[in-house]
Amino acid sequence: MIETISTALADSKASIHTEIDRQNYDFINGVKAQLADLKPYSTSALEWLMLEHYQFSLRNTKFLAIAAEVTESFDTQAIHLELLRNLAEENNHAAIYKSALKQINLDVDERTEFKSTTVFLETIERLSSGSPSSVLGTMFATETAAIFEHEVFKDISEEVLRRRSLEAHGQHLVGFHDMHLSGVEQSHRNELGIFLEGLEFDAIVERNADRPTIDTSQVVDGAEQAIAAMKYWWSDLIDEISLMSKKA
Ligand SMILES: [Fe+2]
Ligand SMILES: [Fe+2]
Repeated sequence: MIETISTALADSKASIHTEIDRQNYDFINGVKAQLADLKPYSTSALEWLMLEHYQFSLRNTKFLAIAAEVTESFDTQAIHLELLRNLAEENNHAAIYKSALKQINLDVDERTEFKSTTVFLETIERLSSGSPSSVLGTMFATETAAIFEHEVFKDISEEVLRRRSLEAHGQHLVGFHDMHLSGVEQSHRNELGIFLEGLEFDAIVERNADRPTIDTSQVVDGAEQAIAAMKYWWSDLIDEISLMSKKA
């Protein structure tokens, strides 16, 4: 009984930043563990997975544009401006990714639709147009996950290049992931995270300097829905590559 009370007290002091990260890293570490050893997966399954990841890259600027527009209605412009900065940075990334994949003979235009990816992208688009506070939560969660995705896809790329003896043609592909991991995604996460640092649950936190008035229940809701969507998507992706690898 005493333990229950002290846990409840500790929880009430935790910030939403910590809690969102706890849930997100729980999901991220689960996926990472399933991809730590790539040997069980066929080369074509890993190539297929890269084409699915490209789909997110292709839509990412649309999500950011919607989110930037929604967050313009906060009572300060800091989050809106940060999302615009992020959008400008991501502007030509899908084109770079597409051409890097083409150099290792993967044509994104020849992909057949995977329903789960479509549902995932629709969900993220819907979440990107929620209330400003919930959009902040969604974007913080997806930018955090972007770091792990580039880590995982860098490993997958190197594995495929080695198996296909395409190392000489894959420099742009590896470079694309390296570029994101050398601070780009970390800064997308951190620059949004600043606004959530130390905020309590179930509160309307009044504007303070650059930070707008934030509804923390909505932030947590937006983040949790994004994490749930990523969890479903990745679970389906891993099921699919496992199945493809068994058939190969
Ligand atoms: Fe990017
Ligand atoms: Fe990002």
